[in-house]
Amino acid sequence: MAHTEREGRYWDKITEGAEPFREAGELVASLFPVEAIQGKDILDAGCGLGAYSATMAALNAQTLSSFDISIGSLRQAKASVPNAHFAQASLSQLPYPAESFDMVWSWGVLHYVDAPLALHEIARVLKPGGVAVIHTLRKGAWASLELGTARLLSKTPNWMQELITATGERTIPLAVQLVTRHDPAVQTSKTIRQKLKERLFVPGDIRAFSFNELCEGFGDGFEVREAYPPVPDLLNRHMSITLIAHKRL
Ligand SMILES: C[S@@+](CC[C@H](N)C(=O)[O-])C[C@H]1O[C@@H](n2cnc3c(N)ncnc32)[C@H](O)[C@@H]1O
Repeated sequence: MAHTEREGRYWDKITEGAEPFREAGELVASLFPVEAIQGKDILDAGCGLGAYSATMAALNAQTLSSFDISIGSLRQAKASVPNAHFAQASLSQLPYPAESFDMVWSWGVLHYVDAPLALHEIARVLKPGGVAVIHTLRKGAWASLELGTARLLSKTPNWMQELITATGERTIPLAVQLVTRHDPAVQTSKTIRQKLKERLFVPGDIRAFSFNELCEGFGDGFEVREAYPPVPDLLNRHMSITLIAHKRL
């Protein structure tokens, strides 16, 4: 528990001042019809500021449970989704009984945690016939480059991270615009400052996964397929992987 609290305090700093992700509704709708959420027991695993919890509540989930390791994030999420049951917890040790949920939604969290433990926990709390949605980092050249950079930058002092952030805020939009010919601000509501904090400056190892590794993590009791939601920026399309895993009846 002391470990969870320490990690949570760290994440409080990362999410401080961040805005909930505005594209959450669009992403959920691209993967599931309303009926997959309506009347169902849903777990938002690593809910952050609650963007996906708010979407699930708006789609009339029967019960909505949301947890995160960061109390600061939970405080913000609670304010925007008053009907959800919130808890501080780690994805690698879930405080829920077995077979509690029809859907476990975990967006952008698995790469920060002990993945085998987390997948085991997700599998445990899903009802037979339930579905897990996992969005995480995809193993490959882009991820190796980013994770190698993150290993170096996460150890730099705050002033240097601030300098890198200020430089990134000026140069990354130009680079994205050059490559994609679209204004990055219309591709995602997440700011460059926030992305850098979440991806380059997190202490501890961040991991990336292949489809097969994730399938193995779920085991034979699941039927797993890859999904292709409209993730909002150039790099995310190469660097992220989204899985839909059905727990067999
Ligand atoms: C990139 S944010 C994603 C938040 C949210 N799912 C979203 O997409 O808006 C990563 C989240 O993972 C949470 N997190 C990090 N380690 C965690 C852990 N071990 N257990 C649960 N949540 C964790 C952080 O506090 C943060 O809110």
